[in-house]
Amino acid sequence: MFGKFARLVAAVMSAVFAFSLSTTPIQAQGKVLVGLSFSDFETPRWPQENVIMTDALKAMGYDVVSQQAGHDPKTQNDQIANMVTQGAKAIIIVAQDADAAATAVEDAAKEGVVVIAYDRLIATPKIAAYITFGLTQVGNGQADGVLKALGITAIDSTGKWTKDNPVNLVKLEGDPGDNNAKFFEAGQDEILKPYVDAGIVKVVARQNIANWDETNAVTAMENILTSQNNKVDAVIAANDNLGLGALQALTAQKLSVPVSGQDATAPGCNSIAKGQLTVTILKDYRVMAPQAVELVDEFLNGKTDPDLKSYKLADLTGNASLTGDVMAKYLPVTEVTKDNLYEAVVVSGFQSYDDVYQDIPEAEKPARPEATKAP
Ligand code: BGC
Repeated sequence: MFGKFARLVAAVMSAVFAFSLSTTPIQAQGKVLVGLSFSDFETPRWPQENVIMTDALKAMGYDVVSQQAGHDPKTQNDQIANMVTQGAKAIIIVAQDADAAATAVEDAAKEGVVVIAYDRLIATPKIAAYITFGLTQVGNGQADGVLKALGITAIDSTGKWTKDNPVNLVKLEGDPGDNNAKFFEAGQDEILKPYVDAGIVKVVARQNIANWDETNAVTAMENILTSQNNKVDAVIAANDNLGLGALQALTAQKLSVPVSGQDATAPGCNSIAKGQLTVTILKDYRVMAPQAVELVDEFLNGKTDPDLKSYKLADLTGNASLTGDVMAKYLPVTEVTKDNLYEAVVVSGFQSYDDVYQDIPEAEKPARPEATKAP
């Protein structure tokens, strides 16, 4: 009797063992751990994307470990190494610093970990994929929105602005360690170039703002206003944090000039509704976050994504000394001004009606949308 039972157990055990060695998909061996590593939770979008990705991964049966690095590249690398030690099979990373994160990613890749560079590139070909939004389009939209608000619509239609009366333009750019920052600026410059070449736009100051921090932007803008005797006609700021920081410094000097942003944050959109911020760029992370999770799932199951295209790392970083290729995917962006704020941001459900129209007199608000349209 006992012998029969033992033989049965042995047979079942060896079948289970053979199965788990050969064909078992990853999930069937217990929950697979996926890491989410963020540079910080100060920029409003990251905590929201953390929630979307965590929920999506859990719904697909994954375990999730998520950390933010408080803007410190070394902390982020330690957190990534820790996730690998804990057994994470994939990590989605928003890198604080494109170069610094490469070290941790290369170590993770040696252990077979799938790394997705999320929104920001990491300067190594060892990532499995890079998913982001059209970076130069972001910059194009920022410059376009500001020029239009100045009354400049074409090189032969520049309104009151001439070579003798040029636009004194300030540029507040992103954190220098963020690979995106230079491509946002390149996009701005693409639009500005004919006007700069013709002397109609004069860049009187440009500065990278560490950590994309709003307080740092206020200080930078205050110093620029002092050095320019307040003679500033427009500010291209690379995201809403920087744009709102610039606006604080401008308002303190009772100046009102066109200012750009990016992210369509709740405070940024509220500022547009109030007629302060001029333009922001909506990047619909409700679309991107699930796609990053999808990429993880595909790679962990030995598949790849047909929408990924191969790019040279040197081109994606602007650093000719970097070799290798990276699979990447760029998603579309939307330029948002007062004209399309309601449709693009509120009706689409990207931000709530109450956040966008906070402190706006009842009589000036559009009707509350009956339903919001999911992306
Ligand atoms: C992102 C922006 C964001 C900024 C600050 C950039 O890399 O693309 O959307 O505003 O970082 O976090």
